[in-house]
Amino acid sequence: MVYAAVLGYGTVGSGVVEILERNREIIKKRVGEEIKVKYVLDLRDFEGQPVQELIVHDFDLILKDDDVKIIAESMGGLNPAYSFVKKALESGKSVTTSNKELVAAYGAELIKTAKANGANFLFEASVGGGIPILRSLNQCLTADEITQISGILNGTTNYMLTKMTDEGLEYDDVLKQAQSMGYAEKDPTNDVEGYDSCRKTAILASIITGKRVDYEDIYTEGITNISKTDIEYAKKLGGKIKLLACAEKTDNGVWARVCPVITNKKNPLSTVDDVFNSVLVEGNMVDKVMFYGRGAGKLPTASAVVSDIIDEAKNLGSDITFGWQEDKLDILSIDDISVSKLIRVEYNDKAKAKDAVMRIFGDVAVTELEEDNGEFAFISPKQTERNVNKKINSLLNEDGISNVLGAIRAEN
Ligand code: HSE
Repeated sequence: MVYAAVLGYGTVGSGVVEILERNREIIKKRVGEEIKVKYVLDLRDFEGQPVQELIVHDFDLILKDDDVKIIAESMGGLNPAYSFVKKALESGKSVTTSNKELVAAYGAELIKTAKANGANFLFEASVGGGIPILRSLNQCLTADEITQISGILNGTTNYMLTKMTDEGLEYDDVLKQAQSMGYAEKDPTNDVEGYDSCRKTAILASIITGKRVDYEDIYTEGITNISKTDIEYAKKLGGKIKLLACAEKTDNGVWARVCPVITNKKNPLSTVDDVFNSVLVEGNMVDKVMFYGRGAGKLPTASAVVSDIIDEAKNLGSDITFGWQEDKLDILSIDDISVSKLIRVEYNDKAKAKDAVMRIFGDVAVTELEEDNGEFAFISPKQTERNVNKKINSLLNEDGISNVLGAIRAEN
């Protein structure tokens, strides 16, 4: 028997207990012995529910029990998750977590602590929920240098952008729908401002580089400024707006970014809709490999946590932790990265406005949604972010142009 403890009986924690119970026999066959949850730490008692007999309120009880070899942390947030995980690893217990905030902020330190204490720190569920992306990078795509990762790493925003695209709805309306479906939280900031995707991108970038990529260094822009009109332009151009997370190794260094992008049909990520997540990996030998699945939700996320518990149970005493070193990798400034943007121009004199655009950006094709609705858009030729932003600013001083209504990165 291998004993485990679960910290937090919320969505993910209850899913972990459920999977270990429902799939007990098949898991027993795979591990060679049964995995049993001995404790569930939670502030609540869950009176009358089967889990009640496992509930404890004092973490030290778990820490001091030598039977417990594996701890699944599913409390979320940094505190007290960080101190519990750190203490567990220091006492030689292995930990698995779905907590991307914890992994993005303290991953390197916790990996080191695990290794120093003969324990493992595993975090498959922290990126892409049920998608087995981390284990694939670390155990399957090991013959390759991974040169680029791009993905849709947030289900809530993908659901919202899909609704805006399919039903022509405005941002505020789809946010309400996402909240009523239970995807978006009452305070949706982490999802809609891209912070959740940013942390997941930091974890992926750290894994492919082997060094610590700080999430604070990753350029992050959410979907709060995306309007129905932006979506209409994207559609007219044959593309779809997606909140894309990217990390790429170049000859000059590594860059990483989270932002809305008008993806074109050639990009398989443009077909990933609703709450689904996907990760497109590019290796220098294997070429492109794509992963698709549910990035959130009780059982998909708990499935990834339990896969870590199983891995650990099969390898007790062995070092199976993968990750990255503590030394920080300075990533390239987004200003030096080449992009094209769809730029929306509001005019008071259309002819003059078009002349100014051609003079500043060259011979670009202009797209209009309707004749004479006071605006047009064009896609800028690929150039550095710095240059394109300078040119956008100079448009504002041109005769005939009253405003620049938006600029969204676009694949071409
Ligand atoms: N809020 C996240 C999402 C949950 O919408 O994808 C999983 O990290």
